[in-house]
Amino acid sequence: MQKYSNRMVIVHWLTLVLLVAAWFLGEVAHDARHDDMATISGYVFHILAGAAVLLLTFARLAFRRADGVPAPLGDTPMDKVAKGLQHLIYVVLILLAVSGMMQTLGSDVAAAILAGDATMLPKKFTGVVAHEVHEVLVNVLIALVVVHVLGALKHQFMLKDNIMDRMSLRKKD
Ligand code: HEM
Repeated sequence: MQKYSNRMVIVHWLTLVLLVAAWFLGEVAHDARHDDMATISGYVFHILAGAAVLLLTFARLAFRRADGVPAPLGDTPMDKVAKGLQHLIYVVLILLAVSGMMQTLGSDVAAAILAGDATMLPKKFTGVVAHEVHEVLVNVLIALVVVHVLGALKHQFMLKDNIMDRMSLRKKD
């Protein structure tokens, strides 16, 4: 197999779009809380985007198992690092969403959403460890994704092995 299956390709790029949306909406919710302007919809949109990322990650793992993945381009230590990085991204994606759920349930966010009452939203997440974990994991994920993208760019433009073709939709014969 030289390329990822079409459904793997679609899930890969959709995950990227939803991840950027979840990140942006998380920052908006964070800033709004600090400005005393937090809204229920601000949290709900962020949570929906984050939950969609989690579902897509599970779908991707299932598709990976069912469809297989293309053979690695090489067997150098750098290729092994790149593979390890991909696995780490899956782990961090799952832990990020789980920590988001835990801070929602471990604070007044869940009760405020259920009551539809923005005044119940927490002003601070003091003592909510999942909140700190979520913040740290966001930064870890950004760092991992940046390295992943730089690796892809190096392959595409310096090694010129057309790696992006593997993550593009197959054309019909
Ligand atoms: C997997 C994708 C996700 C990404 C990229 C993401 C990103 C972020 C970011 C950037 C923040 C702001 C962090 C800061 O304080 O600086 C945040 C906060 C938050 N996230 Fe997520 N998140 C994700 C998933 C989730 C999920 C699935 C939930 C809940 C089910 C969730 C619940 C929250 C809550 C409650 C906050 C606190 C906002 C505040 O500070 O008031 N997140 N997230």
